[in-house]
Amino acid sequence: MKAIRTTVHTASFVTLTALLCLAGACDDPIDAPGPTEQPPGWQDEVALATVDDVNPAPDIIEFDLTASVENLELTPGTTTPAWTYNGTLPGPLIRGKVGDRLIVHFTNNLPEPTTVHWHGLRLPNAMDGVPHITQPPIEPGGSFTYDFILRDAGAYWYHPHVNSAAQVGYGLYGAVIVDDPNEPEFGDELILVLSDIGLTDSGALLPPDTGGEFGDLFGREGNVILVNGRVNPLITVQPGLRQRWRVLNMARSRYYTIGFDGQTFTRIGNDGGLADAPVEVEMPVLIPGERADLIITPTGRRGSVTQVQWIPTERGYGSLFNRVPEDLFRIEFADEAASINDELPTVERDIDPIDTTGATEVDVEFTIDDEGPDGLEMGINHVPYAEVVPFEARIGETQVWKLINDTDFAHPFHLHGYFFQVIDDNGVPVLPLAWRDTIDVPVGHTIRIAIDFDERPGTWMFHCHILDHAALGMMAVVNVTE
Ligand code: C2O
Ligand code: CU
Repeated sequence: MKAIRTTVHTASFVTLTALLCLAGACDDPIDAPGPTEQPPGWQDEVALATVDDVNPAPDIIEFDLTASVENLELTPGTTTPAWTYNGTLPGPLIRGKVGDRLIVHFTNNLPEPTTVHWHGLRLPNAMDGVPHITQPPIEPGGSFTYDFILRDAGAYWYHPHVNSAAQVGYGLYGAVIVDDPNEPEFGDELILVLSDIGLTDSGALLPPDTGGEFGDLFGREGNVILVNGRVNPLITVQPGLRQRWRVLNMARSRYYTIGFDGQTFTRIGNDGGLADAPVEVEMPVLIPGERADLIITPTGRRGSVTQVQWIPTERGYGSLFNRVPEDLFRIEFADEAASINDELPTVERDIDPIDTTGATEVDVEFTIDDEGPDGLEMGINHVPYAEVVPFEARIGETQVWKLINDTDFAHPFHLHGYFFQVIDDNGVPVLPLAWRDTIDVPVGHTIRIAIDFDERPGTWMFHCHILDHAALGMMAVVNVTE
């Protein structure tokens, strides 16, 4: 991978208030700067569990991670036998800095085999957690040690890669945040793991094949939306004080469009850290597997509560039919004077565009056929995963993949092990430049991406991250060889 250079300038600032004070006109309390911190306990309701690092070395994070079924109260007064990592849903937050080594002693106490896949991280192939390809499935009672270096700043996640639609749907996922110590302070940080789960009124898990072929086609969305494992939690904020939201979509099929009335977001990053320029967005969209790095300065009347909403997202045939906004989480504005922020640090990450001169062009078409042995069959280039013919790439080779979608449903494409850059969407260049591992391919679109297979040989997966589509065969592999 070409070097990623990050340059950030924190602008010095002089507020109007300070100038007024110097002029002796600051005794009006309305003009006085408000609190510079969020209210105490402001995000207690969405606190994430953390890991117990047993290694004293400052640059090694070593801990036990156990998958097991635990009874949790996800909706009030009910009990759900959720599938968890270390007993929590989502699993514990893993947080390190660029260059840290992660050693994860994983044990499977589930009733079926599993693996842990580290979504988005550039790790050695043997650590990628893909059953039968990079490791044998971990049987119930079995264990496996994942050991690799955190190379790139950004927000990532971990989840099973065995029976993924069911296992992720039941609650197995957690966040990995990799910090770059040279990054400036963008604001008070909120990590938001978005997911959903299919539950009966009494809290029982709905079967993973709920909805039959219909569910397969649309991808199953759980009927209960969770934010950090809670239903519509409350976050208390200081109006006017800038925040950085690290948002991760871990739902098995659901797309999230975030609606926060009257507020505007600045999206500063995607999957693989900061983009090369910030973009203003009203309603950020996150497809399954995707991450967004958002800056927001919420404003609101003191003491009022605003509902942040899930807004239905167009993702193909009938996907908006009968859909209405749903509750994500609530924001309460603290009863205090508004704060004054210093200027947002400018984000100037230089990302070199991947040089695609002479690059091999490869067609990757998402296909849905009805001539499968059991009816519906999904695949890549009409080949279901069960009959996969590996794609080929050489170390050092750059390829341009044309992601083609002529089906009636959108497909969130995900590539393991490598970041890519999006070149264009139906011929229209896509900016800003960013490192991604997940991209939406809407109905009728062809999206071209550039991939530099620069190192780390092995067999790497790519697939649709609507996990119900993946389960029906919309997955393939690329052999990267010396
Ligand atoms: Cu997030 Cu192959 O997966
Ligand atoms: Cu799909």
